Amino acid sequence: MHHDNQLKIVENLKSLHITHAYKKTTNHHHECAMQFHCVELLKNKFGFDDAFNYKEEPDMNTALERYFPEGIDIYYENVGGKMLDAVIFNMRIHGRIAVCGMISQYNLDQPEGVHNLMLIVYKRVRIEGFAVFDYYPQYSKFLDFVLPSIKEGEIKYVEDIAEGLESGPTALIGLFSGRNVGKQVVVVAPE
Ligand SMILES: NC(=O)c1ccc[n+]([C@@H]2O[C@H](COP(=O)([O-])OP(=O)(O)OC[C@H]3O[C@@H](n4cnc5c(N)ncnc54)[C@H](OP(=O)(O)O)[C@@H]3O)[C@@H](O)[C@H]2O)c1
Repeated sequence: MHHDNQLKIVENLKSLHITHAYKKTTNHHHECAMQFHCVELLKNKFGFDDAFNYKEEPDMNTALERYFPEGIDIYYENVGGKMLDAVIFNMRIHGRIAVCGMISQYNLDQPEGVHNLMLIVYKRVRIEGFAVFDYYPQYSKFLDFVLPSIKEGEIKYVEDIAEGLESGPTALIGLFSGRNVGKQVVVVAPE
């Protein structure tokens, strides 16, 4: 991590962590190797200063304090639950949280709840959700920007391709157990 940077960004690129599916079918040694591979992918391919595997961290607060000793300015939220609580605890004054999703909560009977919310007041943190459908009218403009950037290599993009409509349900369920590496897509017909 570049400690001199004022702006510290945590992004939960969970799609790049592989674990559960491998746990079932392979040995521990292989699983560790895959987790190591994902952390390396984040650092070397995607250009993050640092990365860690949340499944290897017994205490999320301690982990975040280690990686963000000066606190977090901006958090892109995709996980929710314990991760969000630990992030709020580690936010800096006037930090911002953009809420995209909370995947850890979707299959629970009762949402876990967030316990550190009062810190939002003390730290004057701003939290705002957003939803993709608000931006559909700008989709072609987005493609004009993003496709050349991917071609030029300025934006790195990894896809996890499942072949055929029949593989759709398995691919969907796999999102909740870290089966995919990169954006999960299902190819139903050749272009
Ligand atoms: N706001 C919007 O308009 C919008 C639109 C689409 C999607 N989303 C949200 O964007 C997020 C990512 O969705 P995606 O479709 O792109 O999936 P994705 O990131 O490709 O895959 C989901 C990843 O979440 C991780 N995960 C699963 N359960 C978890 C848990 N309990 N705690 C922490 N991580 C967990 C898994 O990785 P691990 O193996 O590392 O656990 C998995 O790879 C989701 O929160 C989704 O709801 C928001």
